[in-house]
This record gives sequence, C-alpha cells and structure tokens, in this order.
Amino acid sequence: MTDPATLDYFSDPQLAQDPYDYLAFLRSRHPVFREPHYGVVVVTGYQEAVQAFRDTDSFSACVSIGGPFPPLPFEPAGDDITGQISENRHLFPIFEHMVTMDPPDHTRARSLLSRLLTPKRLGENEEYMWRLADRQFDEFLAEGRCEFLADYAKPFATLVIADLLGVPESDRETFRETLAGHKTPGSRVGALDHEPVGSNPLEWLEETFGEYIADRRRTPRGDILSALAATTYPDGVMPEIIEVVRPATFLFAAGQETVTKLLSAAVRVLAERPELQRVLREDRRLIGPFIEESLRTESPTKVDFRLARRTTRLGDLDIPAGTVLMLCIGAANRDPRKFEDPDEFRLDRRNAREHIAFGRGIHTCAGAPLARAEGQVTLNRMLDRLRDITIDDGVHGPAEQRSYRYEPTFLLRGLRELNIEFALADAR
Ligand code: HEM
Repeated sequence: MTDPATLDYFSDPQLAQDPYDYLAFLRSRHPVFREPHYGVVVVTGYQEAVQAFRDTDSFSACVSIGGPFPPLPFEPAGDDITGQISENRHLFPIFEHMVTMDPPDHTRARSLLSRLLTPKRLGENEEYMWRLADRQFDEFLAEGRCEFLADYAKPFATLVIADLLGVPESDRETFRETLAGHKTPGSRVGALDHEPVGSNPLEWLEETFGEYIADRRRTPRGDILSALAATTYPDGVMPEIIEVVRPATFLFAAGQETVTKLLSAAVRVLAERPELQRVLREDRRLIGPFIEESLRTESPTKVDFRLARRTTRLGDLDIPAGTVLMLCIGAANRDPRKFEDPDEFRLDRRNAREHIAFGRGIHTCAGAPLARAEGQVTLNRMLDRLRDITIDDGVHGPAEQRSYRYEPTFLLRGLRELNIEFALADAR
C-alpha cells in the first residue's frame, strides 16, 4: 500500500476531492511535516499554524497565494534572506496586492483599505444584501429547484462587492457576466504546466476601476466612487490611482470565490439535515454558530503559504531560511487537540468561533464581517422563503451514496455545484 506521506498534495486529484484524511495522517506523523515533493513544510496543527501566522519576524507573506509555484526567484543564502526577498519582491506572483506584502508596506496598504470599509459603508452594504437576496431568490424560486452556486451564490457574492465599492447600477450586469466565469486561483491539480499562479487575473477590474477613479478625481459626484477617489493615507498623502484601485479590485479576488464556497458548504449541510432547518428556523440566533461551524469544517481557504525569512524552529522541526510553509487552515480547524470530535458538525460547539478560517495576525481577513453578514442574510432569507430544502437526488445520488464534486484546486475548498430542491415557504 502507498505510504500516504508520499502523495503529492499539489497534483493528486483524489486529495483535491478529499484532503482531510491525508492531512490528518500527516498531523499524526507530525503537525509540522516536510513533504517530499517540493520540500514544503506542511503545518496541520492548530497551535503551530497560529504561531506561524503571528510570527511576521520569521515568516514572510510574499508567497501567500502561490506557495512553491513558481519556485523562488533566487537561491536562498544564509540564515536570513530578508534582503533577498526585498530585492526580488517584484518577481513574486501578485506582489502588488496586500496579501503578499510584509510590514511596513502591508501596514500602509491595509490602512487604505480600512478607510474604504467604514462601518457606515458596511451597514449600507448589508441593507443592499437583503434586497439582493430577495431578487436572487425571485429568479428561480418558482422552479422549486436550483443549482445554488450559479443561480445564487456566485452572482450574490459578486454583486455584494460591486455594491460595496459603489459600482454604478448600470454597470453591475457587466460585472456579473464578466466575473462569473473567473478562474479559481491555485488550480494546480491536473495542470501539467507550471505557469505562475494568479499572475494578475485582475486586469479587467484594474482597467475599469482605474477609469472610475480617474473620472471621479476629475469630476467628483458625491457617490461612493468619488469618496474612494478622494481617500488619503492616514498621513494625508493622496495615493496614486493604482494604489486605490488595487485594494479595491483585490476584494473581488478575495471575496467572491471564498464566499461562494462558504454559502454552498452551509447550504449543503442545511439540505442534508432537515432537523437543523427546523432548529434554525425556530431560533435564528443559531444561524451565527451555524456559519462558524461551516467555516470550521469546510474552510474555504484550505491552505495559505509563508516563506521562512530566517532560520527558525516550528513545532519540533528546524526550518531553514528559504523554506516554504503550507499553513493548512482546513486541517488546523480539525485538529483534535483543539476541537473535540473535529470531523463532526456540531451546532453547540463552544469554541467553534476560534477557528482560523479567516487566518490570524496582521493579514487576518479584511472581509470577515462582510462574509459573515452574507451568510446571515442568505440563510435568514432562505428560511423565510423556502421550506423542505433537500439535496437533488437525481444529480447527487441517494442519501446513502451522495456524490459531490469539489473544485480541483490545492488552495480552496468548495463544491463545483450544489443542486437543491425545495418548496415555497409562503405556499404553506
Ligand atoms: C468566507 C469567506 C472568506 C474567507 C474564508 C477568507 C479567508 C481569508 C484568509 C485566510 C485570509 C488571510 C490570508 C493570509 O494570511 O495570507 C484573507 C485575507 C483577506 N481577505 Fe478574506 N476571506 C473571505 C472573504 C473575504 C471577503 C468577502 C473579502 C472582501 C470583500 C475579503 C478580503 C480579504 C482581504 C483584502 C485580505 C488580505 C488582508 C491582508 O493581507 O491584510 N475576504 N481572507
């Protein structure tokens, strides 16, 4: 029998469909384990992953999305490669975006983003979500069935961000059409070529937002885009147009696929477990814990990467400078040392909210409140408007033999499609 430790996580199609047993096996060998194919250190332990997320002195985020792909653009030399990272920063995939930056550049980029995501803007955005959810349900409700990702989750997640950023109503349909088919980053499984992951898939967005911001700087109109265009750094300096455009457009990359995956994971559990539909319908306060448990058990960002900038130690392993670490969020969230019976979906789990589905430390997800609101709005409206939600047996097979297909990517965890059937709540 093949030793599971010799499997190639990055290209094995089976592992993309079901990574949890493999990652649990690695954890049982050691929560910090060096895999044999790329020399990547695989961190499956909760404490160890949190420690690595927090330790920005030892670990750089420059490889956060691509991990070992492409290989480092230099040969690491010595016990501290901070200088080499700085000199070659522009050669890392999506180096222009905050998720790959380290302080102080990261601090500056993130400060701009927090000026865009004000409590007032988030509040208005949530009001829009309620209207949007109804509009989305109206599109297919009468049919009594839907493919939840294409019919609801994808357009919903895209349009929520478009609204957040103030994209004019007249352009939103174009956003929906253009971004619906956008390719999942990190889809290495099955790909033989080693093209850089995420080599700026955001060009269309950058162009469109560049035009919006330039236009609003010339002629302010009192809309959200005009406020975006006038945003300054905390020290009062006016950013270049591209410096405003990048954090704005990155929200689409960071918040569409991930939210789609969260919503579909949550709805799958709901459709599989009629008793939970009843419980949530009767006590809507339980929707919050339901979403947290969905995030814990099916963490949409399955893994995240760091590069050791200094020779250091994590768990019991010596980590030479230049080592790529894979922080397995989905596995850390199922670490039995942290979560009792970790593979069970439990609505009453006391520490569910301590999951690290949104990461930890300075890069903690900037959109976490938004993602949680999207979950709340979706599940509430779904329970308001639908009843007897079930999995479509015709597509996914009978209850005892379900078949679900997941996106073939090493980076994200999410269903390719979810077909459900339901009755109208109003028709009762
Ligand atoms: C369930 C949905 C989501 C999940 C699971 C998720 C997960 C994550 C994770 C794990 C990180 C940390 C990356 C790292 O440390 O390398 C992150 C960062 C980020 N996320 Fe999310 N995210 C979600 C939704 C969103 C949404 C809706 C937005 C915005 C509209 C968003 C915007 C961001 C941004 C801007 C960052 C970079 C923060 C930084 O580098 O400082 N995310 N997200």
